[in-house]
Amino acid sequence: MIEIIREAGIHLPDAVFESAAEACFQSYGLKKPATLCLTLTDDAGIREKNRDFRDKDEVTDVLSFPSLNLSPQNTFDENSPASLSVWDAEQKAFYLGDILINVDRAREQAETYGHSFFREMTYLFVHGVFHLLGYDHMNKEDQLSMRQQEENALNKAFTSVSDEELLAIAREARSFAYVPYSRYRVGAALLAKDGSVYTGCNIENASFGLTNCAERTAVFKAVSDGNQEFEAIAIAADKTAPWPCGACRQVMSEFAPELRVLVTWDDGKVLESRLDQLLPHSFLTFTEDQNG
Ligand code: THU
Repeated sequence: MIEIIREAGIHLPDAVFESAAEACFQSYGLKKPATLCLTLTDDAGIREKNRDFRDKDEVTDVLSFPSLNLSPQNTFDENSPASLSVWDAEQKAFYLGDILINVDRAREQAETYGHSFFREMTYLFVHGVFHLLGYDHMNKEDQLSMRQQEENALNKAFTSVSDEELLAIAREARSFAYVPYSRYRVGAALLAKDGSVYTGCNIENASFGLTNCAERTAVFKAVSDGNQEFEAIAIAADKTAPWPCGACRQVMSEFAPELRVLVTWDDGKVLESRLDQLLPHSFLTFTEDQNG
């Protein structure tokens, strides 16, 4: 478990960072449990820390403060006095240090690089974790070995989102639901083919018909970030199985008629189906060859 402090108003569920941290530790070959503290902050917050701790009065994207003095040559040793001094008895894990991510900058960079906010945040986090593990980019050689570790971990993080993790992300996304009218919270986690995960929640409105379901929120976030290829969606609710409504089935079918659909409720019950079973004969105005 890692500790996450949310100073900035933009949130990704904890599970995203938990699984990315696991991917880094695996890629590094860390056998012992490790922990760290991640602060999600904004332009002003990171500038303050950069000024106070690094004497640089400027905005940046990510900052790392390692608790151990590791390097690619001096790798983590569970028996060293330094390691023992950062043993966190409560978490039962070695405390590697602090990472701060500027979510304002992450949003801008996601746009510049043309990939999702999720992907950019995961990249910045992975970069921060390898700094904690002693990697640096001061010269070409160090830069290359850091990049290799990062790529390895990112490949793991992006291809290893298991059904359990996707369900956990959907359950957390549910907590952001805006439901003053129905009180029925729904969360969704949409897994794209490139490994990105887009979350969504239901957003209600005083004019009831304007309500947006969790699934459509996730799909619209993905498509508006330039991603249209999807693998699976997990949908979480509290008391009843949240099979997607007809409108959401039609919207999802536009992009992924064979999407895997996982529903979970009661924090443990899970059922799975495929979109073409949930919506046979979906509405289409063109055939594949007309599409070209
Ligand atoms: N809802 C969803 O978010 N997804 C669905 O597939 C069905 C319904 C939401 C909309 C509304 O906020 C609440 O559940 C009750 O209908």
